[in-house]
Amino acid sequence: MIYTLLIVAYLVSSVLFILSLRGLSSQETARKGNVYGIIGMAIAVGATLTVPGVDLYAVLVPALAIGAVIGWLMAARVAMTAMPELVALLHSFVGAAAVLVGFASYLDPAMYKGHGSGVFLTEVFIDVFIGAITFTGSVVAFLKLKGKVSGTPLLLPGRHMLNLGLLVGSIALGVLYVQTGNPFVGGELATEGLMWLGIMTALAGVLGVHLVMAIGGADMPVVVSMLNSYSGWTAAAAGFMLSNDLLIVTGALVGSSGAILSYIMCRAMNRSIWNVIFGGFGTASAAPPKPREGAPGEVQETDIDGLLAELLGARDVVIVPGYGMAVARAQHAVNDLTQLLRDRGIRVRFAIHPVAGRLPGHMNVLLAEANVPYDIVLEMEEINDDLPRTDVSLVIGANDIVNPIAQEEGSPISGMPVLEVWESDRTVIFKRSRRTGYAGVDNPLFYHEKTRMLFGDANDSVSALVAALRARAAGG
Ligand code: TAP
Repeated sequence: MIYTLLIVAYLVSSVLFILSLRGLSSQETARKGNVYGIIGMAIAVGATLTVPGVDLYAVLVPALAIGAVIGWLMAARVAMTAMPELVALLHSFVGAAAVLVGFASYLDPAMYKGHGSGVFLTEVFIDVFIGAITFTGSVVAFLKLKGKVSGTPLLLPGRHMLNLGLLVGSIALGVLYVQTGNPFVGGELATEGLMWLGIMTALAGVLGVHLVMAIGGADMPVVVSMLNSYSGWTAAAAGFMLSNDLLIVTGALVGSSGAILSYIMCRAMNRSIWNVIFGGFGTASAAPPKPREGAPGEVQETDIDGLLAELLGARDVVIVPGYGMAVARAQHAVNDLTQLLRDRGIRVRFAIHPVAGRLPGHMNVLLAEANVPYDIVLEMEEINDDLPRTDVSLVIGANDIVNPIAQEEGSPISGMPVLEVWESDRTVIFKRSRRTGYAGVDNPLFYHEKTRMLFGDANDSVSALVAALRARAAGG
């Protein structure tokens, strides 16, 4: 009876996770999607506590409570701009858990009862191997995103051979370990298999570090989503190892959705998915980018009055939001600006780059929070062709995603599609300085003849513009 109820609970959770993913695919339904996910996970955890053999409640319940409080505090406190770091850190927990559960299962004599050890040991190997790569890769991704480790790719000579060597070495050790069979056959634990498993874990850990170290700052979004996928596959492998159907289904959902997201992001950024998997993409050579002729040059500044005059004379305005809009929390002022311009009959649209900000959909979330109408928020490929017919492009706290150097050879962002704002009649860039963006690449757009810089915090500048427009409206 308990077993039947358990199966039903797992089934309900699986359906809720699928509904959750579906809900998260659009901003209108994202909240509902989150609620489905929360209910599904609550049922899953509750049901797992009733699995026959799970009885250490004195440890489990306090551990769950402490974990829930820590998770709650972390999620409540994290700034939206630090979300990718948190996601990377959480992936590292999945990897670490997979490794620990893998070793614990290997060392549990009960796991060998009733079936041959070969399949089980292979499941442990796969679980620990992917888990170790996910753990160390995610820790490096976390440190890179946090700025504790340089975003510059580490391009060791012969790095692909090194990766191949680590992979082949791990598989060879895996074969040796599986061949040792059930370690409890002689009564006492035989340590040979444990030794091979331990060395393989260390090699896989080095592989995880090296794969992510070789990837440049601008390409980190794809890496984070790829690690998300790995964390799913590692959970699925743990599901096979522990004969837990829900873990298999959930792991497969996370693994495949992460892989699909990585593929979509790779396509949007003109990168090859294989290069992400094997590390060090977008950086074919260790040579530094060629210096550009004529850059840096003179920037031309504007002020609120100058920009106001340009906007009032415009018919078509495109706003390109970026990471700086999130930092400045300028989205509400940007929405006010949009309304005021639209009230004057000016067409305003938003151009969203697939990796604007610091997490997938970052700008969409902020604009939705500020109540910007969805129908004027367009993807890069929907709006890029309209930019030559645009009077004014307002680049608010964005940098890499409008960097024309991406269209030239030899820079870390070469080949990444960008929003071609320089095609519009006027480009105004809201930022605090001439500093580079996340990829650390100089931006020649600042010195373009059609560009004007409006220096200052994006929220202050947009709010000042809104106040000036309101004053103009009040004065007739
Ligand atoms: P960035 O290239 O990082 O540029 C953001 C700019 O905002 C900076 O140059 C900064 O210049 C400015 N800024 C910061 N605070 C500001 C403030 N308070 N007011 C005004 N401006 C401010 O951002 P982007 O154009 O959105 O491109 C995103 C980058 O992040 C890409 O390289 C992408 O690959 C990477 N990335 C993306 C993700 C995802 S999934 N979206 C995840 C990780 C990394 P000042 O300091 O001069 O003000």
